[in-house]
Amino acid sequence: MKTMKRNLILFFIVVFAVIPAYTQKSNIIYKQKDAPVEERIKDLLSRMTLEEKIYQLNQYTIGENTNVNNIGEVTKSIPSKIGSLIYFSADPVRRNTIQKKAMEESRLGIPILFGFDIIHGFRVVYPIPLAQACSWNPELVKSAAEFAAKESKLSGVDWTFSPMIDIGLDPRWGRVAESYGEDPYTNAVFGVATVEGYQGTDLSSPYSVAACLKHYVAYGMSEGGRDYRASNVSQQSLWETYLPPYQACIEAGAATVMSSFNDISGIPATANHYMLTEILKQKWQYDGFVVSDWNAVSQLIHQGVAKDGKEAALKSIMAGLDMDMKDNIFLENLADLIEEKKVPVERIDDAVTRILRVKFRLGLFDNPYTNIVDEKDRYLKNEDILLAQKLAEESMVLLKNKENTLPLPSPVKEIAVVGPMAKDKSNMLGSWSYHGKEEEVESIYEGLEKEFGKNVRLNYAKGCDFDGTDESLFAEAVHIAQHSEAVIICLGELKTWSGENASRSTISLPVIQEKLVSELKKTGKPLILILSNGRPLELARLEPLADAIVEIWQPGIAGGTPLAGILSGRINPSGRLAITFPYTTGQIPMYYNMRPSSRPFREMGNYQDIPNDPLYWLGYGLSYTDYEYGKATLSSEKISKDQKLKVEVAVTNTGDRKGSETVFWYINDPVSTISRPVKELKHFEKKELNPGEKKVFVFEIDPHKDLSYVDSNGDRFLEAGDYYVMVNDQKLKFELTE
Ligand code: NOJ
Repeated sequence: MKTMKRNLILFFIVVFAVIPAYTQKSNIIYKQKDAPVEERIKDLLSRMTLEEKIYQLNQYTIGENTNVNNIGEVTKSIPSKIGSLIYFSADPVRRNTIQKKAMEESRLGIPILFGFDIIHGFRVVYPIPLAQACSWNPELVKSAAEFAAKESKLSGVDWTFSPMIDIGLDPRWGRVAESYGEDPYTNAVFGVATVEGYQGTDLSSPYSVAACLKHYVAYGMSEGGRDYRASNVSQQSLWETYLPPYQACIEAGAATVMSSFNDISGIPATANHYMLTEILKQKWQYDGFVVSDWNAVSQLIHQGVAKDGKEAALKSIMAGLDMDMKDNIFLENLADLIEEKKVPVERIDDAVTRILRVKFRLGLFDNPYTNIVDEKDRYLKNEDILLAQKLAEESMVLLKNKENTLPLPSPVKEIAVVGPMAKDKSNMLGSWSYHGKEEEVESIYEGLEKEFGKNVRLNYAKGCDFDGTDESLFAEAVHIAQHSEAVIICLGELKTWSGENASRSTISLPVIQEKLVSELKKTGKPLILILSNGRPLELARLEPLADAIVEIWQPGIAGGTPLAGILSGRINPSGRLAITFPYTTGQIPMYYNMRPSSRPFREMGNYQDIPNDPLYWLGYGLSYTDYEYGKATLSSEKISKDQKLKVEVAVTNTGDRKGSETVFWYINDPVSTISRPVKELKHFEKKELNPGEKKVFVFEIDPHKDLSYVDSNGDRFLEAGDYYVMVNDQKLKFELTE
């Protein structure tokens, strides 16, 4: 009897307690790993209070200006229901503590999205993006993004604010360092490669991070190259120059977008309905979310379109902004705006949906925590460093090589190594290298020591500082130069001279560095200039003094070895410029795809005091071998709009060294309803060639993709008529029929 009673009680417990609990759990669709993402979002959204929704639209920061003593307090102050955090720390344990709070203390257990600026590597710092583009090797760039994603993910970061695909036509603007140069197609190709590297084929895989396209849009047009200024840009330029890289990366599946600081012809990007909603979300069907730039919502007040935070919140949310970075304006104002019926709940739901979608796609609901692995397994893996070396190698550009000054003749016995960059480490990292460590950088001098070993004596003198007027170190530099067979002069920019908020009024190097070269010139020794910088430089005075020039950009942690290999001849340089070097600052803007002049004859309209051409165009770069281009051929001289046209050119390595040649294919439409640039890059390919080897390079022209053009509404049109395809110094005409 007793047992029966006990069994009965047990039965009731099962029926009334356990079974409902079980069914209840299985009814929570958003917690079901295998349920479709859209259903999980819908379910979760239906359970959220307005306050919980608004919290999702906000991003806090942690780790900046905090030290170990107060970090605990800061961690506690992070609300458990916050949408996202900018995570300055590299500590996965701390991240997990914060995440645990979100998962266990917030009512619905919504994971936090941890974001950070991983711009060109995490701990392994790769060359700056501008340099990466000079490799013309998207596969390599994709691999670097993949490695960076892995280091980031293991440090607690799920989302990187990269790639930056802003076209910068004014190199005074410090942020040209962060882009892939001046050309829309190049930015599209490298932007897509980077997105693919970060995100992989599955965003939820353990080593993928979400990409963020920035800064949408036309930030690179900031007036006068001054950061945070307005961009006065025509609708036509928007569509043909600034938007295409974004469209390509959206089509490639980029998870998120960051709106830019600038005002676009009067309407700041943060509150620009046309850009955020009509183009991005409606025309391109983008289903991820848009985050503002740092404090950019409140800055609508400075930009003169909002009288206070409330109006700033109203304008930006209604324009289509989904997440407010840092300034809490959404948090402080959205509830009132909804109450006052100025912001419909549907808009909030849409923004939350977009943010949750990215979180689900990242697998954060199912795997919210970072796997803790030993630091030595997390960072600086050998294969990573080798990749950083390879990318640095391919991004270095040989700009001048008078009478084969380089590679250094062997046997060379004594070389002078001079200049403020020679032993510098910190500046080789470039801007946005927050987790990079100076002590992990290989300097130019260390690379040379390793390359030349005991066979060559290196005589070092700093010569001067990066800036200032102190010439007291010149004499020592001149002295060692006199006693050496060649002089390697390492010059450049501090890393703080490029990147955000780092505009310069001139793109030349400071006078003190130019003067040092003039002094060394007097020794009569061969001068080899090594330049490390984050933008194109004005070299009008330096170029004539140098026998050889190698542009190494800011190569990251592993630039010393590849540079030394180029100087010794172990490596044949293959980088080509992805950005034009104006002859002087006064030539700006100077870019390869300008529209034709109305008076192109008899040098009309030219500058009277300087050459009309830049010093080096996009695509320029020398090699230690020679490439001979055969006659390019067309598969047909006439095609219809739906046909494709094949153009081929055979390139032979006629020198005695192995090398890699990049072939650039351009299109020109001489007569169009809208005047077209003198040439537009449509395809490029890099191939390795052994001495004497010949390879065929092919460009398949697809008229709808390569010959069509946009009007100022972004509508594509394709016109029949004559076109040119250009390769090297050849220009071939063909006709497009109706
Ligand atoms: C401001 C910069 O413009 C942007 O590029 C960066 O991602 C954010 N700050 C976050 O650090």
